[in-house]
Amino acid sequence: MFMTRQGSCSRVLLSATQIQERVRALGARITEDYRDRSLVVLAVLKGSCVFASDLIREIDLPLRVEFLGVASYGDGTRTTGIVQITQDLTAPIVGDDVLVVEDIVDTGLTLRYLLQLLELRGPRTLNVCALLHKPGRTREPIDIDYVGFTIDDEFVVGYGLDHRQLYRNLPYVGVLDDR
Ligand code: IMP
Ligand code: MG
Repeated sequence: MFMTRQGSCSRVLLSATQIQERVRALGARITEDYRDRSLVVLAVLKGSCVFASDLIREIDLPLRVEFLGVASYGDGTRTTGIVQITQDLTAPIVGDDVLVVEDIVDTGLTLRYLLQLLELRGPRTLNVCALLHKPGRTREPIDIDYVGFTIDDEFVVGYGLDHRQLYRNLPYVGVLDDR
């Protein structure tokens, strides 16, 4: 167990260096896969703000960035499955190759909802890149095209992920202590 300025973590799960290496590899794969496409990187806020910022700098292609603001009701450590859109895209995505960037796929309820919503906007392709996946808790089987790390069922914070809106600025991913 160790203290951060925001509360206690039981341990570091993914160090800043581990994350950086993985993000670099994901960026290289995406660069290969999206050559000659009309790439729109769609970052789901707030959780993916840090991951998306690092990821786009590892993609060596022309691309557009869009943000979709999303809040799962409840600020605890469990998803309710009710998703509130807090900020919409600034441009149409019709005919574009959209890559949705998520912080974590837990139950999969949020992502399923978002994919259904985005499909209606007529993208040419719609794929998903998630930094973290907790397959042990996934209730909605979803095809995640790019996964950073597969993790156990523990509540994690840092590198964009929050608990009650805090911890997002930790440069590593840690396991929250006080679940
Ligand atoms: P899902 O709908 O259960 O897949 O969860 C989606 C959202 O819940 C994520 O985008 C996160 O904002 C939040 N979430 C799920 N697990 C964690 C976690 O371990 N730490 C921080 N946030 C989480
Ligand atoms: Mg959250």
